[in-house]
Amino acid sequence: MYKVATTARYTHDPAGFKITEQPRPVLTAATQVEIEVHAASLNPIDFKRAEGMISIALPEPFPLKLGYDVSGIVTAVGADVKRFKAGDRVYGRVHAEHVGTIAEYVVADESALAPIPAAVGYKAAAAVPLAGLTAKQALEAGGLERGQTVFVSGGLGGVGMFALALAKHHFGAGEIITTVSTAKVDKARELGATRVVDYTKEDYTTVLDSVADVVLDTVGDATVYKVAKPGSNAVSVAMLPDGRALDHFRQENVPLSAFGSFKLGLAKRVVDCAGWFLTRGFRAKNVRYSFIILQCDGEDLERSFNPLLASGALTPLISNTYPFTDEGVRAAFTESRAGHATGKIIIKVRD
Ligand SMILES: NC(=O)c1ccc[n+]([C@@H]2O[C@H](COP(=O)([O-])OP(=O)(O)OC[C@H]3O[C@@H](n4cnc5c(N)ncnc54)[C@H](OP(=O)(O)O)[C@@H]3O)[C@@H](O)[C@H]2O)c1
Repeated sequence: MYKVATTARYTHDPAGFKITEQPRPVLTAATQVEIEVHAASLNPIDFKRAEGMISIALPEPFPLKLGYDVSGIVTAVGADVKRFKAGDRVYGRVHAEHVGTIAEYVVADESALAPIPAAVGYKAAAAVPLAGLTAKQALEAGGLERGQTVFVSGGLGGVGMFALALAKHHFGAGEIITTVSTAKVDKARELGATRVVDYTKEDYTTVLDSVADVVLDTVGDATVYKVAKPGSNAVSVAMLPDGRALDHFRQENVPLSAFGSFKLGLAKRVVDCAGWFLTRGFRAKNVRYSFIILQCDGEDLERSFNPLLASGALTPLISNTYPFTDEGVRAAFTESRAGHATGKIIIKVRD
């Protein structure tokens, strides 16, 4: 048995979350490893899933195990694992079938994992995977090139923070523009933003009219196209997901009933139609819009983040660290649901 943070039902109230004893996960494929968890970080998908928001695509059995991001030490490896051995320090965003990283142990496919650079601690490593990969893949999808001007909304949220750092150090953007609330303005400049708009004081779509070569929306604002130059690319990770995104959450080993498949098909049509309507401003301005959903990829994580972490160019901001207790997990989710974290929210499982 092992301890893992769970919810016994879909709920909007983190008071329902509890650390429970469950049968310890076992390796079910030769490419998997077992990790002794040291830290986990929270992402909005954790509370959205606990609220049942992806249940139409993924009707999982209860109790739901919580947490996608992990850092820790490899304790066992399958026969075909090539990149890791027992004792290695690793971090990653686990695939959907292994979700449940707020736990003493987790099983993950090696393809989801990267080695933690020597000087980097478990909390910093756990902060990176989901939000960091999302930022990287979104800026890549936007085609950001050296010297260009990029706009990132919500620059001190999980995704926004990594997008600012990557825009500066990985993509070599010329100007990096972001929006934050008043208390975060100075911190956003420290992280590399060259222009910061306090969205609580100014309408950013007016003061930043048509300035950006690439736009990354992390807050879900359908008017963000106003910031983009005509003919440029805008990528959102936070607007209404499209039908492809709903398919992303499917798992082959969790079959849908005939009625479940019908409902999913209908939901995909509804979100595609609603998305088409929501994005009419982008089309009218000739801004190419795409919604992306991150792909779990340990090698991308290693390539994109290990050099920045190892050199000290990137030190992930930690909003708060909570203990691995019922109260700690509930408080961490309460902060995450409020939507105003400064950087990442961590649950420390072991020292
Ligand atoms: N598609 C994907 O694969 C994917 C992956 C990761 C995340 N996401 C989604 O992306 C969104 C952001 O995720 P996250 O991890 O960055 O969330 P987060 O860590 O909770 O950060 C949210 C940030 O948004 C800022 N914010 C709130 N309202 C704002 C506004 N009107 N203008 C500018 N900033 C505002 C908040 O800062 P203030 O305190 O300044 O308001 C906060 O820092 C979520 O909806 C999440 O579900 C999608």
